[in-house]
Amino acid sequence: MVKTETAMSLLDDAKAVRSNAHAPYSGFKVGAAIRTPSGAVFTGVNVENAAYPEGTCAEAGAIAAMVAAGENRIAEVAVVGDAPDPVTPCGGCRQKIAEFAPRGTQVTMANLSGDELVMTIEALLPHAFAKAQMEG
Ligand code: THU
Repeated sequence: MVKTETAMSLLDDAKAVRSNAHAPYSGFKVGAAIRTPSGAVFTGVNVENAAYPEGTCAEAGAIAAMVAAGENRIAEVAVVGDAPDPVTPCGGCRQKIAEFAPRGTQVTMANLSGDELVMTIEALLPHAFAKAQMEG
């Protein structure tokens, strides 16, 4: 899903899309929203599967929508779930975000109680593996 708006509502977008998550196995619905430098916002939800390992995270869905739309740079991320503490991206999703997010990109993590945690991508994933390491 894509739309253009201000950064102020990125977490609201993540909260709004969260209800569409397909999480019948874990019961844990997650919503994610990405804003790109163009101002476009892409959202995603976790999509679980009866073959459990085939499920995908909310962040991965938002990133796939962004790339399908022809964009490849992340300016800001928001992730939300119904948890005691703000929902943090899994390790794999940190790497997926780092692929497109420059240093300093803020990741806002939240729950439905209003708790929020804001960290940069490099704080969430120090020493991320990147393309430069594959260049001789
Ligand atoms: N999940 C996400 O979608 N994003 C996260 O940041 C954390 C975990 C999903 C994966 C799975 O469908 C469910 O939450 C429980 O792990």
